[in-house]
Amino acid sequence: TEDHLRHIESLATFPSGAGKISHLRATNLGECLSSEEHDLVFPTPEFSDKALVPSTEKYLEMYRRSVRDPAGFWGDIAAEFYWKEKWDCEKVCSENLDVRKGTVEIEWFKGGKTNICFNALDRIVDNGDGDKVALYWEGNVPGLDDKLTYKELLDKVCQLSNYLKDVGVKKGDAVVIYLPMLAELPISMLACARIGAVHSVVFAGFSAESLAQRIIDCKPNVVITCNAVLRGDKPILLKNIVDQAITQSADNGVSVDLCLTYENQSAMKKEATKWQADRDIWWQDVVPKYPNTCLVEWVDAEDPLFLLYTSGSTGKPKGVLHTTGGYMVYAATTFKYAFDYKPSDVYWCTADCGWITGHSYVSYGPLLNGASVVIFEGAPNYPDSGRCWDIVDKYNVTIFYTAPTLVRSLMREKNEYVTRYSRKSLRVLGSVGEPINPSAWRWFYNIVGDSRCPISDTWWQTETGGFMITPLPGSWPQKPGSATFPFFGVQPVIVDEKGNEIEGECSGYLCVKNSWPGAFRTLYGDHDRYETTYFKPFPGYYFSGDGCSRDGDGYYWLTGRVDDVINVSGHRIGTAEVESALVLHPQCVEAAVVGVEHEVKGQGIYAFVTLVDGVTYSEELRKSLILSVRNQIGAFAAPDKIHWAPGLPKTRSGKIMRRILRKIASRQLEELGDISTLADPAVVDQLIALSDC
Ligand code: PRX
Repeated sequence: TEDHLRHIESLATFPSGAGKISHLRATNLGECLSSEEHDLVFPTPEFSDKALVPSTEKYLEMYRRSVRDPAGFWGDIAAEFYWKEKWDCEKVCSENLDVRKGTVEIEWFKGGKTNICFNALDRIVDNGDGDKVALYWEGNVPGLDDKLTYKELLDKVCQLSNYLKDVGVKKGDAVVIYLPMLAELPISMLACARIGAVHSVVFAGFSAESLAQRIIDCKPNVVITCNAVLRGDKPILLKNIVDQAITQSADNGVSVDLCLTYENQSAMKKEATKWQADRDIWWQDVVPKYPNTCLVEWVDAEDPLFLLYTSGSTGKPKGVLHTTGGYMVYAATTFKYAFDYKPSDVYWCTADCGWITGHSYVSYGPLLNGASVVIFEGAPNYPDSGRCWDIVDKYNVTIFYTAPTLVRSLMREKNEYVTRYSRKSLRVLGSVGEPINPSAWRWFYNIVGDSRCPISDTWWQTETGGFMITPLPGSWPQKPGSATFPFFGVQPVIVDEKGNEIEGECSGYLCVKNSWPGAFRTLYGDHDRYETTYFKPFPGYYFSGDGCSRDGDGYYWLTGRVDDVINVSGHRIGTAEVESALVLHPQCVEAAVVGVEHEVKGQGIYAFVTLVDGVTYSEELRKSLILSVRNQIGAFAAPDKIHWAPGLPKTRSGKIMRRILRKIASRQLEELGDISTLADPAVVDQLIALSDC
């Protein structure tokens, strides 16, 4: 810890210059957009003066305490929340991250009794903010909107909680939620939390097959969905997808008794919805009849709050399990500091609640701070590429948090789509999901933020529950493309292949050497996989799966996944999952999937496929292979390129040499390296010849 602190403290030697803002260059955009990667971009003195953490010195003071005295640091923060019973004071945290010393186990605030829904709603109402807007809902079609105050949101959550209890949902039961970005999605999450049920939200872009897989894993009695949603002009019939998934689950011995279906009138009338009367029920027919008060189920800090499935390097998605107390404290605190949250802010995060970003930074983190949150049902380019800025102006959004892929897709359009809107309300921007390339950073900063708003480039993961490495706006200069420094209480380390920590300027594997309150506690039903994936590769540390470098000033630069996971538009996809989906196609015998650079998506999916003997590759077959992936996983995982591969480069022991495939996919043919160890080196030429097929 002391070494780590010395290292972090080296950042106190920043070139002094806060206030002499390098972004003044933005008066000459051309120059700024092409300037050096390692530019320092200082927060304005006006921003820093009012910031929660106004200087590097203040950060260091807080950071020092957070790692030297985690119990004191986190205990003080946790005390700002409501606890029915306090945790064991001695043991704010107990952890073993070292597999060599026994089972990996992490506990925070054990013995404390609380409820995250109570803290996110009742506590805010009790503090006198019941009339403050909690959710501004913006529909897909401009002009269709709604809002709920904290009091109204609490009422709705209580009605659903009462209904769920009435149909038999108890503490510890799983509830699967398959909803688009309607207010009913956070309402459902909060209602589960209120009664101690464990929610498993499945992103509504996943296919019936993926939904079934998740239902089978956690065996809920109740699934919550809606009839349909509009994506642009196109209705997506979500209820039909749920019907298929429930049928598939039943075939696998898991039956769902109740499908609570919200009627999303803007997308489809209820009469047009397929219905199974003994199982399906309309939300609007039952939920509003229930009382709008509901007693809270007090749960232990270590009782499970939610499951969220994410991709790994095998075909089977991992059920990441988060518990209540630590997650609550961490989601709220990271939100507050990384966005420099003030009660007057209006906050908009473009993520869907189907992903971790939507859990921690659409629902829990902001609501626990009493924030006004915009949620958006639609697509950012509908009806045109100015929609985001239209929404920013409409609600006077002050904090705007999004993914680099959206930034890149919008920066390809004319700047006029941005500049025709005022955006004066904006004060902090945020980025998440993948490394933001410096040119996208600069466009976001200069054009969207008018060279005035710091960007919090937040590095974290489904597993970490909240931000791990992130700027604290106002505290230190930023470097376009760097997530900068660790959040309070997080001790990142960079290790080499042997697991030795590397000091100073270096590159390697990003690990964390202590636990933090928001850390996931296990993979649902598979603690062995938890240990093997995250704690065995580098014993003594949590291994993130990411590569990282640290520059001479101590800034962290994330360089992408080092495992068989690719990051497409900020969505994490296992290459093995896509391969399994491809080989399910009757005409495909083998598939190898690699990630390639993609201008907008960050990474694209490039699939090499070997066909059944005698089958010829055709445009029709290409389409049906892609359809197989859409059906198995979801449209967002559809390969960008299918490359017909009569043979794959394999070693004599039969292992596919992905390194070579990556080079072929990215056309770096002069960098193929040694191919002499291949069982049949001739396949390489054959593949190159078929590249444009
Ligand atoms: O590779 C990192 C990348 O996204 C992965 C985590 O994906 P997921 O669990 O789906 O969570 C996404 C939202 C937190 C990481 O392992 N990643 C996420 N944020 C960043 C990032 N890479 C670089 N910079 C980031 N800010």
